Amino acid sequence: MDRLKGRVAIVTGGARGIGEGIVRRFVAEGASVMITDVLDAEGQALADELGGQTAFHHQDVTSRDGWAEAVAATEARFGKLDTLVNNAGILYFAAFEHYTDEQIRRLIDVNLMGVILGCQAVIPAIERAGGGAIINMSSADGIAGANAVSVYGATKWAVRGLTKSLALELGPRKIRVNSIHPGGIYTPLANPMKVPKELYDKGYWIYPAQYAGEPKDIGAAAAYLASDDARYCMGTELSVDGGLNAGHYYMTMPGAPTPPAA
Ligand SMILES: NC(=O)c1ccc[n+]([C@@H]2O[C@H](COP(=O)([O-])OP(=O)(O)OC[C@H]3O[C@@H](n4cnc5c(N)ncnc54)[C@H](O)[C@@H]3O)[C@@H](O)[C@H]2O)c1
Repeated sequence: MDRLKGRVAIVTGGARGIGEGIVRRFVAEGASVMITDVLDAEGQALADELGGQTAFHHQDVTSRDGWAEAVAATEARFGKLDTLVNNAGILYFAAFEHYTDEQIRRLIDVNLMGVILGCQAVIPAIERAGGGAIINMSSADGIAGANAVSVYGATKWAVRGLTKSLALELGPRKIRVNSIHPGGIYTPLANPMKVPKELYDKGYWIYPAQYAGEPKDIGAAAAYLASDDARYCMGTELSVDGGLNAGHYYMTMPGAPTPPAA
């Protein structure tokens, strides 16, 4: 468990959920991590728990100045920056015609603009460090369409596309850029009603995995993409979705899962 020894990462949206899962795995793999988020209490508590390998920095990913400060704070605290996980994101569930202007603009601002600004901000620092990796958090909804998440999904398709172009532009500059496509991970974003995990899992009978994933599942994927084990991965889209986007079931044919008893 020391695949990231000597690495220094920024994990945005690192205070809770998937970001927290990534922070914990990166630390276990030997990395130093700047946890950034708008949730100050949660982010600071996580850094306090994990100790000197981590620090917390308040950051709104939609601010270019905020990005410059986050990069500077990371280099000042840990001496360099070689890895960025653009994880921060928001989601509004709505029928397409019910998305408000405010929700649409906010989704684009956080989920797409935040990722673009982050990638721009870290390039000089990662080059100073001699190379590294950027991991962009897209979604299963950035691979296929889905109801109630149309505008959110559009931002995640954009992140997937951006990742491909950056892999091409930045690969020769020793920066690998890849995307992760989580689906059905048990976090506050995916479970706003706070349904208990055991009950929540029952809704996943339609997934090949038959249960919801956890932040640690994405932590493992991010650690892989950040590490030298993934040195030949550039523009890779890594689905970690319990098989959601593997295809679809013909429900009346053999091999389909059985719906849970009502
Ligand atoms: N949970 C899932 O099933 C799932 C599936 C696909 C993709 N994702 C993606 O994974 C990422 C993490 O999601 P999660 O499920 O852990 O959600 P979450 O809501 O638990 O965590 C998201 C974090 O991002 C932070 N954040 C939000 N806006 C921010 C901003 N402007 N600046 C800085 N930080 C901000 C939040 O404060 C929060 O800590 C998101 O990009 C999300 O779209 C999640």
